[in-house]
Amino acid sequence: MVSAAALGAVGRGFESLYSEKNNLLRAMGKLIIEDSGETFEIPDEGRIEAACEEAGVPFACTEGVCGTCVIEVKEGMENLSKFTQEEEDFLGEIEEERLACQCMLIKDEVKITF
Ligand code: FES
Repeated sequence: MVSAAALGAVGRGFESLYSEKNNLLRAMGKLIIEDSGETFEIPDEGRIEAACEEAGVPFACTEGVCGTCVIEVKEGMENLSKFTQEEEDFLGEIEEERLACQCMLIKDEVKITF
């Protein structure tokens, strides 16, 4: 007889493999840091938060409230997700800025500075 714990572990293993395969099959976009020239590959419709953090963008709340993670989009704003309500509340009418903890790369390339 196989224990429920063992079945659960097998299930999590398949879930992990399925997730990895899906990520590998997703198209990749690029996040470019203007100042350093660093380039990060981001899966399409993927969050940019981790890449921005690795590039040195500071984060605090990660919920779109504090504004610590403001980035300036130099090119490719159209390739990012729509502004979240949190971004609209914090940034107002500033159209070239985004909150790195809130937006996703939808496709292609985005160049930012911070
Ligand atoms: S980390 Fe607070 S708004 Fe992004």
